[in-house]
Amino acid sequence: MSNSVKITYDRKEYEFPLIEGSEKEKAIDIKTLRAQTGLITYDPGYKNTGSCTSEITYLNGEEGILHHRGYSIEELCAKASFLEVAFLLIFGDMPTQKELDLLNDEIRKDSLVDEDIKLILKSFPKSAHPMGILASLTSGLIAFNPSTVNIKSEESMREAIIMLMAKFPILCSWTHRKVKGLPLNYANTSLSYVENIAHMLFKLPHQDYTPSPIVVDALNKLLILHADHEQNCSTSTVRIVGSSEAGLFASVSAGVSALWGRLHGGANQGVIEMLKAIKRDGGDTKKFMARAKDKNDSFRLMGFGHRVYKNFDPRARIIKKAADEVLGELGINDPILKIANDLEEEALSDSYFTDRKLYPNVDFYSGIIYRALGIPTEMFTVMFALGRVPGWIAQWAEMRRNKEPIGRPRQIYTGKTKRSI
Ligand code: ACO
Repeated sequence: MSNSVKITYDRKEYEFPLIEGSEKEKAIDIKTLRAQTGLITYDPGYKNTGSCTSEITYLNGEEGILHHRGYSIEELCAKASFLEVAFLLIFGDMPTQKELDLLNDEIRKDSLVDEDIKLILKSFPKSAHPMGILASLTSGLIAFNPSTVNIKSEESMREAIIMLMAKFPILCSWTHRKVKGLPLNYANTSLSYVENIAHMLFKLPHQDYTPSPIVVDALNKLLILHADHEQNCSTSTVRIVGSSEAGLFASVSAGVSALWGRLHGGANQGVIEMLKAIKRDGGDTKKFMARAKDKNDSFRLMGFGHRVYKNFDPRARIIKKAADEVLGELGINDPILKIANDLEEEALSDSYFTDRKLYPNVDFYSGIIYRALGIPTEMFTVMFALGRVPGWIAQWAEMRRNKEPIGRPRQIYTGKTKRSI
């Protein structure tokens, strides 16, 4: 098989090398395209563009495969803790017990934020969207930890990574408690990473709280399922912001903003709002299916479709099973679960959806679990961000270690040509 691609343009032939990934994916290396031919490529939404090489996540959308550093998402969800997966993503291998203990110790020591962060939090109205609060607080952290900006060594990189892993759950919990009007909680460092997340989210001042194993197990799975997903919108944002040598926290704050949108992380909130609207409307799923298919209606079936998965989203299978288990174990009979099941069944046998390869994505069922855990709908995307932080960190660190150039796409100018006033 050839290891190059020839392009003929203006009666001249140019040759470009093919590069191959470890899972045999091929790409045309067009780094010298403009220099050689004067041409650039045009690819809105980057549907055919590889922006980097990466060793973190392998995703095969046609076959529904998701691997992190070679381990399948199914195996990670069944056997690993969220912190182990975070270590794997960021540092490249599953941690030994000693490495995990060290990471835990370092995180526990850093599990505090400056009290003045509360002043920033206080200035937001309760009606503010949690993702806006979270992006601001993440950015605000920079002012209190300026050493994290100018990273020149592996040690200072590790320091910034630990700080973010330790402090981000506090920011998420404080955002949640602000919206709910609850007093702010501090970390309980005698708990595991995920137990502590549950503690900070749910512990009330007038009651004892011991995180239930069902809740911790569900949170663990949800966080792992969201931990990384290669070059999606928010991760590409983190990499491109970081490529200007903006610090880790600034890059992740930008990632939070990118995740906010309803076509990306905001879809989990969109799903529950859609299911509630269908219920309020009398529960006629067929009516909403017709709207989703109507080109004159902007309504889309939230939680359906994916830029890369064109067969099924392997995360959706795991999460559907987890939703059934959690609701069963907590004894919750949520009527919107029935609406979700009906919609899924109808879509899977409707040629509009099957022809376009639109299947349920991870967020179709995640909101149902968050709801069962008592997390308000507008906090769902914050929970997604909490899970995605190790992925953002790993991608940012890889970009820095690879000394990637500043991200700067080109354009085809279609405006007015030179004219005078
Ligand atoms: N409901 C109805 N029709 C849809 C849907 C949907 N959810 N998704 C795509 N389509 C249709 C489009 O209208 C288009 O139809 P056409 O070819 O007749 O014009 C076709 O399917 C292709 O759609 P695109 O938007 O071009 O697909 P793309 O790959 O660019 O978008 C996306 C993927 C944004 C996820 C889209 O499927 C969508 O909007 N889904 C709903 C939002 C959602 O669930 N987002 C979460 C993604 S997963 C995540 O971020 C974790």
